[in-house]
Amino acid sequence: MQDPPTELASIALAARTLRSGGVVAFPTETVYGLGADALNPAAVARVFALKGRPSINPLIVHVTGREMALTVAQEWPPWAETLARAFWPGPLTLVLPRAGRVPEAVTAGGPTVAVRCPDHPTALALLFEFGGPLVGPSANPSGRVSPTRAAHVRDAFSADDVMVLDGGACSAGIESTVVRMRDGRPEILRPGVIGPWAISRALGLDDGALAPRVSSAPSPRGGGAETLASPGLLSEHYAPNTPAVRFERARWGRVVEFAAGRPVAVLSMGGFSASEPALVIEMPADPNLYAAGLYAALREADASGAGLIAVESPPLPTGRVVGPGEVWLAIADRLRRATRPLDDR
Ligand code: TXA
Ligand code: MG
Repeated sequence: MQDPPTELASIALAARTLRSGGVVAFPTETVYGLGADALNPAAVARVFALKGRPSINPLIVHVTGREMALTVAQEWPPWAETLARAFWPGPLTLVLPRAGRVPEAVTAGGPTVAVRCPDHPTALALLFEFGGPLVGPSANPSGRVSPTRAAHVRDAFSADDVMVLDGGACSAGIESTVVRMRDGRPEILRPGVIGPWAISRALGLDDGALAPRVSSAPSPRGGGAETLASPGLLSEHYAPNTPAVRFERARWGRVVEFAAGRPVAVLSMGGFSASEPALVIEMPADPNLYAAGLYAALREADASGAGLIAVESPPLPTGRVVGPGEVWLAIADRLRRATRPLDDR
């Protein structure tokens, strides 16, 4: 992290870089974003090219609030006002009808635009200094693990291509919840730390019958029709480079067998005492801390030289989940994308 005067100078430089069509990686509370002027088609094209992102995958637009959201969205319906009041700045992305001036590439040609106001002082300072909406996909090559530290971004992109604002470690650690409204009901297109129950409750729909639908996570081999609502989700795997499996502790013997002599890096839930693994990363039992540390742990396992990453399945809640336990739903979604079940080859 930088001291305040250095940070002010780098934010001014970053805003100038953005104005000239450049790309600036910035910290948010979820993950680092690859920022560019959302209304400059050439700058947006640069972001797609740097990430190697398929053009069917629309980008999230970062804003300072309602007023800036209305520079890219056609309307601001009452449900958006309610959710923004409840959760902005914060890790909630709203899908709204797009305004005509938004470059086609931002929305992947679709009729909607995804907007969120990030809860991070550096991101907000950059947005205010730049004075306009910024696209900000996660600052990783498409399909790979999202960055939660400035060093993760520097590992993936050259300083000539991407200026990096260092805001330290991201506190939430997984990408924002993406929600849209359909037929008067919220629908979660990507789970995040703000869960379905919290969203229903904020909308005054907390009677069980109106709990939001959560689109199921597609497997890397393809998903259901529902995922087409958020086309990009189909191609997002959040995958480490090393093969990765998830397992229940009782099946550790099977992991060792499956590794067939390859060194194994384990993300364990604690109290894990097997002697075989080359590396054991103990994951926190608290879901918010687990989420905050997940991507850094996957990266550490990836860099360890292990031939297999084995992620012990956390104790996921079942049935109707309320409160902080909702974060486990988002963690489960990311683990389904980053790993395969042990015997699925
Ligand atoms: O937490 C986050 O949201 C981070 C930080 C940097 O803000 N950003 C992020 O952006 O995760 P990205 O581009 O990696 O993920 C955007 C997700 C994709 O799953 C995409 O398909 C979905 O949002 N999305 C974007 N625009 C959409 C739209 N108009 N309708 C439905 N889904 C949309
Ligand atoms: Mg991403």
